[in-house]
Amino acid sequence: MKHKVLVVGGGGRCHAIVDALSRSPKVGKIYCAPGNAGIAAQAECVPLKETQTEALRDFAKENDIDLTVVGPEVALAAGIADVFKAAGLRIFGPDKAAATIESSKDFAKRLMDKYNVPTAAFRTFEDYAGAVEYVRNGKFPVVLKYDGLAAGKGVVIPETFAEAEDVLKDMLLDDKFGKGKVVVEEFLTGPEFSFMCFVDGKDVYPMAISQDHKRAYEGDKGPNTGGMGAYSPVPLISDEDVEYSLEKIMKPVAAGMVAEGCPFKGVLYGGLMKTPDGVKVIEFNCRFGDPETEVVLPRLESDIYDIFSAVSDNTPMPEIKWSDDVTIGFVMASKGYPGSYDKGFEIDGIEEAEALGNVRIYHMGTAMKDGRIVTSGGRVLMVVGSGPDLKAAREKALKAVSLIRCDNLFWRNDIGWRCGVS
Ligand code: AMP
Ligand code: GLY
Repeated sequence: MKHKVLVVGGGGRCHAIVDALSRSPKVGKIYCAPGNAGIAAQAECVPLKETQTEALRDFAKENDIDLTVVGPEVALAAGIADVFKAAGLRIFGPDKAAATIESSKDFAKRLMDKYNVPTAAFRTFEDYAGAVEYVRNGKFPVVLKYDGLAAGKGVVIPETFAEAEDVLKDMLLDDKFGKGKVVVEEFLTGPEFSFMCFVDGKDVYPMAISQDHKRAYEGDKGPNTGGMGAYSPVPLISDEDVEYSLEKIMKPVAAGMVAEGCPFKGVLYGGLMKTPDGVKVIEFNCRFGDPETEVVLPRLESDIYDIFSAVSDNTPMPEIKWSDDVTIGFVMASKGYPGSYDKGFEIDGIEEAEALGNVRIYHMGTAMKDGRIVTSGGRVLMVVGSGPDLKAAREKALKAVSLIRCDNLFWRNDIGWRCGVS
């Protein structure tokens, strides 16, 4: 009998998860809550928000869902895994206690400190005056991180003291992101990469690595975003770097979570940087990355349903295989993102772009209006090309991007620039 699966979330990451599940011969019907206009082609969208944990549990019960897979951190931080498990339902994603590794940067930093995991030096502040004094006497640029979920926008890297003072005022006096602490971090340099691993509490199973591009504009300029594009694999990062990251970072953190009484089960995402002093942690997330998932999961050759099941049931993990194909994706975002932007612009050309072959278009923020696909979010589409090498994959993806017509989108053409392809 085929299994019924519910995917919680509605962005490009969930579209890629739905796409991977639809390749499993074991999966029958897929539901997605709330989903989006693109996901609707592969799953039945359910009009429930990702944070309506109890309503989602009731839906899963009433519809005999065999397994629920959670995309976004807000649902995990709201305790969706705890709610489902209490009802005896199978769910892929960490419980609320384990999700703290993402929802509190202070928790993550203290965990790394305790278990000797390499990361930037830091201090945490609740009071404005203390933070200002510390920053005044430190080096610049300095990294200021709001200690809570801020959709990738809670990190600011001021170059001067005056700028830092303004940011600290926003974060600690005016509570612009909400009431919370600020982590002040040493500024590190080097190429970044995203290392996502399936973790079943005790054991850690690495995925293929990828590289995101966090800044809004070409040349890595402009404000930080949730991510403007990604590619996989990352030739700048050697197999030895990945091995080191697995042994010295991901495994000790998983073991540390067990020792702290909050074992992690789900996807542990390491945002890592290869600094001149070795690989160090920039951040941890408690879920699949977005847009990294959109370039990593298309390379997965194993059955993702089996992997999700092994983690949620604590059963042996099957062998996880990756294709040699290279993938690269360009985020098409609403003009104004990551600041304010308008919605509701019609999008045309998606079918023509997909017809090129070796192209996958994941919807990040789209909706259906009067039978037409329209923009409905900051990040709108992730256009992924694949091929035997980065150059071929990039040409394919950019050809697809050129076929998409919409009046209100912008994108970065230089995704992959560190590999010399742009
Ligand atoms: P985060 O949300 O913690 O991943 O931070 C967003 C981005 O800010 C990262 O992808 C880095 O590019 C940058 N960043 C964060 N922490 C540091 C650091 N300690 N040194 C240099 N850059 C950083
Ligand atoms: N792309 C970064 C993240 O998912 O947090």
